[in-house]
Amino acid sequence: MILEKMSLKGKTGIVVGASRGLGKGIAIGLAQAGADLAVTSRELKIIEKVAEEIKSWGGEVLPLQVDVARKEDIDVMVDKTMGKFGKIDFLFNNAGRITRVPSEDFSEEDWDEELNVNLKGTFLCCQAVGRVMIKQKRGKIINISSIASFIGGKNISAYVASKGGVSQLTKSLASDWAKYNIRVNAIGPGYFETDLTEPLRKDPKRFSAINARIPLGRWGKPEDLAGIAVFLASDASDYITGQTIFVDGGWLAV
Ligand SMILES: NC(=O)c1ccc[n+]([C@@H]2O[C@H](COP(=O)([O-])OP(=O)(O)OC[C@H]3O[C@@H](n4cnc5c(N)ncnc54)[C@H](OP(=O)(O)O)[C@@H]3O)[C@@H](O)[C@H]2O)c1
Repeated sequence: MILEKMSLKGKTGIVVGASRGLGKGIAIGLAQAGADLAVTSRELKIIEKVAEEIKSWGGEVLPLQVDVARKEDIDVMVDKTMGKFGKIDFLFNNAGRITRVPSEDFSEEDWDEELNVNLKGTFLCCQAVGRVMIKQKRGKIINISSIASFIGGKNISAYVASKGGVSQLTKSLASDWAKYNIRVNAIGPGYFETDLTEPLRKDPKRFSAINARIPLGRWGKPEDLAGIAVFLASDASDYITGQTIFVDGGWLAV
């Protein structure tokens, strides 16, 4: 039955970057669907508090301190998750940052940091968890990309390049690992109300211009990603791999 296939009861996953914004919304949705979770932040105290909130929806929640720019943190994340749960059914790579600077002024340091976190960090998490999933001969990886993987944006060249890379990486890993029964997909959010987009929302002209261009007439909220997150983590999406699914209120349709 289809609703049973969408249940995450008995499944275990990791949400990297679950302390706030989209990652927290995704983690709450997964917990509501019955999953046990490892959730991460660079600040242990913050994620311990968020873990308590997620736990109130049921299931076990393991808070972990992870900076995806540090490979050793990623290895510890996998070891601790395996130590507690003994398997990893799905992984969400949500950690991300954005630097808003005109391309001609973009520093090499900012470029390296952005690509390190958004693209290399995503790859290293996929690789570390992928090795476990290869042994398990099953798993689902969901990377958080962006509409900026498909179109450009103003003054965010490193971000756009990194998200284009995330969607391409998603296709590449999907074809490498299909033989191990591992599905690799991405979610491409449009404009969502989080800390990442606060500077845009604080600029009244920019805010209303963006709002007016969204066919559904509003910015997304973190809970708007819960449905697609549960679907992609669940058995109901077993014949989908290598895709970026855009959740953008229709932005890319017009
Ligand atoms: N908001 C949007 O409109 C939008 C649109 C398209 C795509 N996205 C993507 O969605 C994802 C989440 O964005 P958001 O809007 O929710 O942003 P946010 O509120 O700023 O949250 C970012 C998350 O990433 C984590 N993070 C940042 N740098 C990290 C690092 N080096 N190592 C580990 N974790 C790190 C943060 O954790 P700590 O700071 O607690 O460590 C936090 O949990 C990002 O990949 C972003 O590019 C967002």
